[in-house]
Amino acid sequence: MAVTKDDTMPVHSSEDIVWVRQAVRTWAVGLGFDLVDQTKLVTAASELARNTVDYGGGGTVKLEAINDGVRHGLRLTFEDHGPGIPDIKLALQDGYTTGSGLGLGLGGTKRLVNEFDIESRSGEGTRVCITRWK
Ligand SMILES: Nc1ncnc2c1ncn2[C@@H]1O[C@H](COP(=O)(O)OP(=O)(O)O)[C@@H](O)[C@H]1O
Ligand SMILES: [Mg+2]
Repeated sequence: MAVTKDDTMPVHSSEDIVWVRQAVRTWAVGLGFDLVDQTKLVTAASELARNTVDYGGGGTVKLEAINDGVRHGLRLTFEDHGPGIPDIKLALQDGYTTGSGLGLGLGGTKRLVNEFDIESRSGEGTRVCITRWK
């Protein structure tokens, strides 16, 4: 698997989320994703960025254009050093929230992408990695 391009952006504020949405759209267009897939990626990025800001105390996102020899893909890795998620299975359930959201972010994001990995340790932080292949 080859990474053909990468960039890391801060995710600390609503303004940062706007920049991330814009960058994901631009990268998705550049990789040739159609409008539906672009919107899936932007929506997924938006949800994870919002979680990074609201629950993770801010962090970063790494954007990577990847190629497995057959397909192109866009991989996004959100990382924070916040409190972590004590029960990932529970957090993934639709309707579960510890905030004022709808609790649909993580579960919804998982359904919008081809690969979804979440790693979290109490007191250390959270890393969510998603990939959509073209
Ligand atoms: N980066 C994170 N750090 C800590 N907790 C998180 C993080 N992302 C999600 N969570 C936890 O998972 C729950 C579910 O997230 P999500 O499905 O996006 O729903 P919502 O954002 O509406 O609460 C959140 O309420 C929060 O408790
Ligand atoms: Mg959310």
